[in-house]
Amino acid sequence: MPTPAIRAGGSGGPATREAAPPHVHTVIKYLGSKRRLVPALTVLAEASDARTGLDLFCGTTRVSQAWKRLGISMTAVDSARFAHVLARCYIATDPEARPGFVAEIADAVDRLNMLPGTPGYVTATFCEDARFFRPENGARIDAVRDAIERDHEGSDRWPVLMTSLLEAADRVDSTTGLQMAYLKQWAPRANSPLTLRVPELVAGPGQAVRGDACALVGSDAVGHVDLAYLDPPYNQHRYDSNYHVWDTIVAWDAPAHYGVACKRQDLRDPARRSAFNGRRTMPGALRQVIGEVRAEVVVLSYNNESWLSFEELHQACAGRGHVVVLAFDSARYVGARIGIHNPSGHKVGTVSHLRNTEYVLVAGDRSRVLRMARAVVDRGLGVVVDRPVPVPGPVPADVPDGAVPV
Ligand SMILES: C[S@@+](CC[C@H](N)C(=O)[O-])C[C@H]1O[C@@H](n2cnc3c(N)ncnc32)[C@H](O)[C@@H]1O
Repeated sequence: MPTPAIRAGGSGGPATREAAPPHVHTVIKYLGSKRRLVPALTVLAEASDARTGLDLFCGTTRVSQAWKRLGISMTAVDSARFAHVLARCYIATDPEARPGFVAEIADAVDRLNMLPGTPGYVTATFCEDARFFRPENGARIDAVRDAIERDHEGSDRWPVLMTSLLEAADRVDSTTGLQMAYLKQWAPRANSPLTLRVPELVAGPGQAVRGDACALVGSDAVGHVDLAYLDPPYNQHRYDSNYHVWDTIVAWDAPAHYGVACKRQDLRDPARRSAFNGRRTMPGALRQVIGEVRAEVVVLSYNNESWLSFEELHQACAGRGHVVVLAFDSARYVGARIGIHNPSGHKVGTVSHLRNTEYVLVAGDRSRVLRMARAVVDRGLGVVVDRPVPVPGPVPADVPDGAVPV
């Protein structure tokens, strides 16, 4: 990658070696990540008896990972470059397929952690023009990213080491979890040295496919599966734009940039927009993927802040067989919790509500769908509803208005 002229900014020394805390599984901070729903989605998959699965909008891959851990052979799809890297690491990589692979990764991570910083594009753009990382960490990101390309490009280590770098950078960033802005004051975590860890790989088969869900759905690239999970964006929040720093670190193409957040110039290209981020195009795109996905059972995530109503969603799934809707209460994303601020950082407004309701629609063969829903309800993880649950709503400790027996 060409290295632009560097302005002032230090290059940090190597990080001290750090072992990953045992059994701590990290994924990057991600808007709409289904962390809270993973237990329920795991129970659904378990009760479905699926052997093959598809995650058509995989994002952090945490749902794909949970299903892969159940022994389901997963296909993880996303249009974003960085999400595809995560999918290649956690879903397409089988750590047991090649003897010595994990030791090789551990060795490479140790070496990368010993590299001194070398200021480059990340330091100049994301630490000096913008302030996403402290310059000493930016210089280490530059050095590590260059080394990954130089020493591992084209090998099966590349996606795993890239993931290790993205997760390390995420642990020392200075944002609220979105990259459309950075904090005025450094976040405390930004002062920690960038330290890579060995990603916690999941054994078993799987594949990663990068592309537009609307083009891939129904094609042989994603095939026919027992269980498909659909978790598309439901509003204008663009993932490639909200996570442009990860996109650029993966692409490593030193793009021209614009605005205070130094976003990639090519984000302005209308051809890059997802149909799921347009109010006019989203309903049709969603109906298309629900209708065309080749799966026995479809599981669809949706929240009540979408452009589509509960009834419209239900109707869109009805063609697939019996439909059951599970409801879950959840906290809204961090931007909403922090409040509305003017450019100088003063709070200028309040956010109407801090909780929303997540829905999971399950559609397919009636007895299978009911068995899956019952498993979730029996474990107290969610409730079945036949109409929207009022918002703002309390955590459904008991049965909320609209709940129905399953
Ligand atoms: C709500 S997020 C998925 C979060 C994921 N389930 C998780 O738990 O991390 C939606 C994802 O859809 C991806 N996406 C947006 N438009 C897409 C499209 N047209 N085709 C495929 N993926 C798309 C985004 O990059 C984003 O990762």
